[in-house]
Amino acid sequence: MKGIILAGGKGTRLRPLTHTGAKQAIPVANKPIICYVIEDLVAAGIREIGIIVGYTSERIQSLKDTIGDEKKYGAKITYIEQDAPKGIAHAVYCAKDFIGGEPFVVYLGDNMLENGIKSFVQEFSCSKADASILLTPVENPSMYGVAYLDGKGNISKVEEKPANPSSNKAIIGVYLFTKAIFQVIPNLKPSKRGELEITDAIEGLLKQGSRVIPHVVEGWWDDTGTPEAILSVNKKVLEGKMKAEMKGTVEKGAVLSGKVGIGEGTEIDADTKITGPAIIGKNCRIKNSHIGPNVSIGDDCILQNAKISSSLILEGAKITYNAAISDSIIGKNTQILSDGKKAARIIIGENSTIIL
Ligand code: TTP
Repeated sequence: MKGIILAGGKGTRLRPLTHTGAKQAIPVANKPIICYVIEDLVAAGIREIGIIVGYTSERIQSLKDTIGDEKKYGAKITYIEQDAPKGIAHAVYCAKDFIGGEPFVVYLGDNMLENGIKSFVQEFSCSKADASILLTPVENPSMYGVAYLDGKGNISKVEEKPANPSSNKAIIGVYLFTKAIFQVIPNLKPSKRGELEITDAIEGLLKQGSRVIPHVVEGWWDDTGTPEAILSVNKKVLEGKMKAEMKGTVEKGAVLSGKVGIGEGTEIDADTKITGPAIIGKNCRIKNSHIGPNVSIGDDCILQNAKISSSLILEGAKITYNAAISDSIIGKNTQILSDGKKAARIIIGENSTIIL
């Protein structure tokens, strides 16, 4: 079985971070989201992965740099360009030649699952279905693609964001298909938002009599498409699968509690307090600060007099601002400094948000 990861898209909800990089390259607990996705595919036995990339050359390059050498994953990685973000079904069709005749997994590159996809893939391999979709019960199904089941436990119907759904089963961003899907996609018409929708492709399979089966996800699932969702997943990963390694130098007097990971070359001074779960990358300098809980700090950051909770600080950031920062994402090489004056001085990129 082959796998494809969808890592094109516009990423509008994550601007300005997506002006220069791909959202799938944003780190959660200091590991890029797409690396969790690749690892999930490899853990499910998939060794040939196609990554759909697109939209801007900066984003494509940022993804390739983030993923790095394919050898470290134990899989062969092929990059496939999508000329424009024309929808998930369009992105899947871009991988037609790469897939050939084999069954395959589609994994949206901004989705994260607590327990991976191994059982989902195994179940499909033993079935004779043409597709399998991953479902999770949600409180607000009208925000999602929704699936309905027939009396035999097969999928009978799928609908995109229905106004009054009678099912609470949302379709989440991992799908299994056979080559039958490639006969359906060319017949799709763009939806109201101008995209070729994957729910329409699945509905097309059902209409031609193909069997589509459900698999209900165990554990948490998240779509990291918004800042709030990224922060929520960061918390879950820090609390759960993050391994806390203590490699840096911590001066006597510093107070560390809970699960705390500190990278090589990082120095924590005696006046700092770190409340886990928290992870700090390599070569950071942290002085007189209070970090945590639920904080990830990338490599090469400098923090002095900072008070940070529930946040993501990306590599190379410098923070000497001494009021509390919470529920925030601070981009690479960004500086938030105090100069002792009362008025704030702000130099900030397009589509940014500051709540003071
Ligand atoms: P979405 O989050 O639905 O779309 P988006 O990435 O454009 O973000 P926004 O809505 O904030 O503008 O995409 C889900 C995943 O599928 C994501 O990893 C990007 C990928 N994708 C493609 O690869 N090609 C596409 O044409 C689209 C629409 C999405």
